Amino acid sequence: MNVYKKVAIIGTGTMGPGMGAVLERAGCETRLYDVSQAALDKAAIVLNIARGVLDRLEAPQTAGGSIRFCTELADAVKDADLVIEAVPEKLELKHEVFNQILKLAPAHAVLASNTSGIPITKIAEGCDSGTERIIGMHWSNPPHLIPLIEVIPGNGTSDAVTQQLMKFSESFGYSAVLEKEVLGFVENRILYAILRECVDLVERGIISHSDMDTCVKWGIGYKLAVIGPLELIDMAGLDIYRSVASYLNKDLSTASEVSPMITKIADQGRLGMKTKGGIYDYTDEQIAAKGAARAAKLIAVRKVLSE
Ligand SMILES: NC(=O)c1ccc[n+]([C@@H]2O[C@H](COP(=O)([O-])OP(=O)(O)OC[C@H]3O[C@@H](n4cnc5c(N)ncnc54)[C@H](O)[C@@H]3O)[C@@H](O)[C@H]2O)c1
Repeated sequence: MNVYKKVAIIGTGTMGPGMGAVLERAGCETRLYDVSQAALDKAAIVLNIARGVLDRLEAPQTAGGSIRFCTELADAVKDADLVIEAVPEKLELKHEVFNQILKLAPAHAVLASNTSGIPITKIAEGCDSGTERIIGMHWSNPPHLIPLIEVIPGNGTSDAVTQQLMKFSESFGYSAVLEKEVLGFVENRILYAILRECVDLVERGIISHSDMDTCVKWGIGYKLAVIGPLELIDMAGLDIYRSVASYLNKDLSTASEVSPMITKIADQGRLGMKTKGGIYDYTDEQIAAKGAARAAKLIAVRKVLSE
């Protein structure tokens, strides 16, 4: 039996429906609430896609799970054991939503934020009560495919709530990692360190953008999916790492501003797949084909890595 049986997800944009599908499959009575009817309508479609992916993953299923769409916040949270907030990344909005939830949810409910990087202590500071029950639960996008949850207690979060959320996240087969508060949280810090170096090397003409993608996918990505970075240091040898890092670290990008290359392309209105062009160009057919291939490969890789 799950630590949290009844779960409410607040905000059903990019993240909400996939998280809902995972929790439904984990046996939770799951409520999805959004202020926008259009978002709820779209969420119903995305939820079915996510359910299909979980079937293809052959993810374990616990009986008793369900999904209910709600148009009233009170209805969504009134008997919730866990509330997961997934509204846009604005501190004032998070404060407003958390204070509403605190008034409407049971006193025992744990209030988790899926924020990508706002410190949990800052979210709790704007709340009228409940600090010990407020915690970060950061899922990775797409949440139904990437089985990792970063758990981030704030200064006032109780240890019991932190341990409970770790246990809950692991109960449905996800890996949960515990972190102290740090800007951006750990996963995104690593990603952004990699992205900064990649963009810098392409910008300096050291490598083309397509060769960069090949280099990272086959040289680093493939390997890191099997061997963690600290395991990799042990595998290579600390003597080797120390001697290479002693000259290479000095030469890596330390740029604190966003790269001029990215700024220039973005200023032209080229925002990536959503505008059919960014660093690469895309047709509608290519976007659809890439999406399908990406999902199929991630499913296959996750199955192998879970063996
Ligand atoms: N998109 C990602 O890749 C990703 C990954 C991890 C974490 N996150 C974080 O998750 C949170 C949600 O991100 P997203 O990408 O799903 O956002 P989104 O903009 O796609 O969706 C947010 C949803 O919240 C709804 N909303 C706005 N105000 C609301 C309110 N008062 N009550 C209920 N619903 C409300 C909106 O209508 C919208 O449907 C953010 O904090 C974000 O930083 C996003």
